[in-house]
Amino acid sequence: MCGIVGYVGNKKAVDILVDGLTSLEYRGYDSSGIAVNVEGKVELFKAAGKLQNLKNIIEKNYSEISKSTIGIGHIRWATHGAPTVENAHPHSCNCGKVAVVHNGIIENYKELRAKLESKGCTFRSQTDTETVAHLVATKYGETHDLTEAVRLATKEIEGAYALCVIHQDLPDIIVATRRNAPLVVGLGEGENFVASDVPALIQYTKKAMYIEDNQIVTLTPDSIKLIDIDNNPVEQKTEMLPWEPVALSKMGYKHFMLKEIHEQPDVVRNVLSGKLRAIDENVILKEVTLDREKLKDLSRIQIVACGTSLHAALVGKYLIEEFCGIPVDVEPSSEYIYRKTITDKNTLVIGVSQSGETADTITAVRQAKSKGSHILIITNRPDSTMAREADSLIPVNAGIEVSVAATKSYIAQLISFYLLAIYMAEVKGVTDLSDLKHELIILPQKIEKVLAHKEDIQKLARKFANFKDFIFIARGINFPTALEGALKLKEISYINATGYTAGELKHGPIAMLDDSMPVLSILMSGKVYDKILSNSEEAKARNARMIALTDSTDTKLDELFECIIRVPEISEILSPALAVIPLQLLAYYISEFLGKDVDQPRNLAKSVTVE
Ligand code: AGP
Repeated sequence: MCGIVGYVGNKKAVDILVDGLTSLEYRGYDSSGIAVNVEGKVELFKAAGKLQNLKNIIEKNYSEISKSTIGIGHIRWATHGAPTVENAHPHSCNCGKVAVVHNGIIENYKELRAKLESKGCTFRSQTDTETVAHLVATKYGETHDLTEAVRLATKEIEGAYALCVIHQDLPDIIVATRRNAPLVVGLGEGENFVASDVPALIQYTKKAMYIEDNQIVTLTPDSIKLIDIDNNPVEQKTEMLPWEPVALSKMGYKHFMLKEIHEQPDVVRNVLSGKLRAIDENVILKEVTLDREKLKDLSRIQIVACGTSLHAALVGKYLIEEFCGIPVDVEPSSEYIYRKTITDKNTLVIGVSQSGETADTITAVRQAKSKGSHILIITNRPDSTMAREADSLIPVNAGIEVSVAATKSYIAQLISFYLLAIYMAEVKGVTDLSDLKHELIILPQKIEKVLAHKEDIQKLARKFANFKDFIFIARGINFPTALEGALKLKEISYINATGYTAGELKHGPIAMLDDSMPVLSILMSGKVYDKILSNSEEAKARNARMIALTDSTDTKLDELFECIIRVPEISEILSPALAVIPLQLLAYYISEFLGKDVDQPRNLAKSVTVE
């Protein structure tokens, strides 16, 4: 949550800060601000609401602001204090000489604030961050060295943070540091950059350096100094980022979400590439470093994840149990970390995360790691904090996902689970999965067929857009698809949508059914088809507005269902990877029809870096 960016060099800092904040907008968007040094004075510009409000203020003051060649910027997802101008970052100290931007939560801010107030500091906001500005200013008063002031401040701060700090008397220095929040430095010629995430840098430089926890980095236009919290120099490891700026463009689509939905056939091809070459060859998964003998003897697997990644994990459970006969528990990371978990060195713990920065999942995998479990991370960001906790790392290669609602990363996680489950089954020598392998190879074409009929789903979306509630039902391996369809709809259209196992309907939810309730049955051919059909009959008998999502061509379905979304025929085991596509489109078109902010839904952020 929250994005930070900093620039020091020879260009107009404001342009780089605004570009950086625009590309970090997915991290939070309830207020924003920048601090620049204009002719020896630190000036703050802040706005509540979307980034455009800050851009408007900057435009009015551009001739003044653009004189600065140093600056820091912030885009906020509020934790402490409402999203007002006062609470927007950057924050400053009494004398106004220090400016700070922060991503994370300062847990001991109340104690720090009381201490600082007793020394005469006057607070102007309700944020935890303002304590850092006062604390750094106090330490600077004692040391006259900004790096040292930040270092000493971090010794007193508890919690999670990525911080960027500037001082009025130092017009070419930014000091930044992190603990449990991401921070990356971009290295240029006569200029340097720092940010929460790569998209803020990539159009300026591909040379990057990831900052580790408790390291402090000092940037000038021509130098980078890196130390640890005890003031020891740290070796600087730079790398070339494998990203192209074009990945951040909408490429003609109205929204990133629609573009990312359309990228899914190629995402599937990418994930399979090099791992599944032919149906008569074994899956190659070199990323799994767990010894094959240990893998064979695993007695238990736990998977931790949140949101959409959790739904992919539920499909993963089904596959691993089905093919390998190993019991798999799936749990939301936020629950896993607050109970006594039975985990040991014979347990494989899998963390699944698009961003690799989800605080709950990071804590969960660290907890399991401390008990000796092998940690396998499935993530779209091999450069993330979570990836660095991995014993085995499976990057899902979906490319950058900008829309807050996850789509292509979900399909990439699903395909990774199919490969992992097949790989494990082959190591165990338990089953022949050549039919599934063949189907995986032709899956992209089937997804393309669904996308080619998107106008039908758009029509359906218009018909149902004004309903207040929605129910998705499924059984077996598509129960997670029902959960994911409902999550997509509620997060971008704010419609109250819930996924149920179809068999549970009659144990309570059926009481809600009448002609104001659409029920979407995920009715894929296979062993639970008839059961879901009867559950759908039961719902129809209560006057629910019935929609089917099916690969069946049975014309009798026309009597039961008011609308039918048809997808190409597919085996039940692989059907979650196809059935989810129309549900993503349905949510997209409903949101778009209702005029909602599709890519940046209210109250959400792409990376949830607070517990
Ligand atoms: C997905 O559409 C959501 N925005 C959200 O549930 C997300 O999946 C969740 O926050 C987990 O994020 P992660 O995959 O980056 O860990």
